[in-house]
Amino acid sequence: SGVYVVTGSASGMGKEVAAKLTAAGHRVIGVDLRDADVIADLSTPAGRQSAVAAVLTAASGPLTGAILAAGLGPGEGRNRSRLITEVNYFGVVELLEGWRTSLAAAQDAKVVVFSSNSTTTVPAVPRRTINALLAGDTDRALRSLRMYGRVGPVMAYAASKIAVSHWVRRQATSPKWAGAGIRLNALAPGAILTPLLEEQLASPTESGAVQRFPVPIGGFGEPGKLADWAVFMLSDAADFLCGSVIFVDGGSDAYFRAGDW
Ligand code: NAI
Repeated sequence: SGVYVVTGSASGMGKEVAAKLTAAGHRVIGVDLRDADVIADLSTPAGRQSAVAAVLTAASGPLTGAILAAGLGPGEGRNRSRLITEVNYFGVVELLEGWRTSLAAAQDAKVVVFSSNSTTTVPAVPRRTINALLAGDTDRALRSLRMYGRVGPVMAYAASKIAVSHWVRRQATSPKWAGAGIRLNALAPGAILTPLLEEQLASPTESGAVQRFPVPIGGFGEPGKLADWAVFMLSDAADFLCGSVIFVDGGSDAYFRAGDW
């Protein structure tokens, strides 16, 4: 049995992954704002640093794997774009950098980062927002979204997920990750019926877009089934999976870009 860290363990897909790993006999260290082993606010640098340290202390040995599921949907509110970029991008990258040595010590650790199919289905996400995130510059990323008004958070969300996917693919193959035996991969869900999606469905400004979004299979995905994919990506069967972004989205990504590889 192994030791896994799961961010976003208090709700939705992170909660399902944590439950499945625990049921399989593993030790899980959950990280969230509440109802978790490690309580931390991943929207601030200090919160991320405390999460890194508290998890390493709790593990007191190698980390078999990490599941980065904490995240915020597009949502609303003045500070929303900042929260999205802080949690969805820096709340993944800074934590993984802090845990890398402990993952390497496990010899064949596996990491699953929650991306999204918004990476390929949201049109015209500003390149400069993505580049600013990859450069570690939150303020520049947010300035680049100033003109977008109410769709700012939608762009911030897609940009955060594109940047984190880009980071996963770039780092996955490097000596620091693949070279240390760590498999770094991403899961890109479509609309999955979790509290995050329920918040969007309850919002008069967002609900229509969610309902009209083309899903060839129809309906919404089930959180437990996405968790099964994540658990599979942590299993020995995934030993040869490295730097992949797996879309589990009812066909939306295929629908929008059948000809892109
Ligand atoms: P959820 O809202 O059910 O769970 C997310 C968890 O992240 C919550 O427990 C929340 O407290 C935690 N979190 C949020 N901000 C935090 C902060 N500042 N510090 C610490 N923890 C924080 O969401 P869901 O749907 O399970 O999403 C999991 C991941 O999957 C997210 O990264 C999301 O962006 C992604 N995703 C979700 C989709 C969906 O349709 N539900 C679609 C595509 C991607």
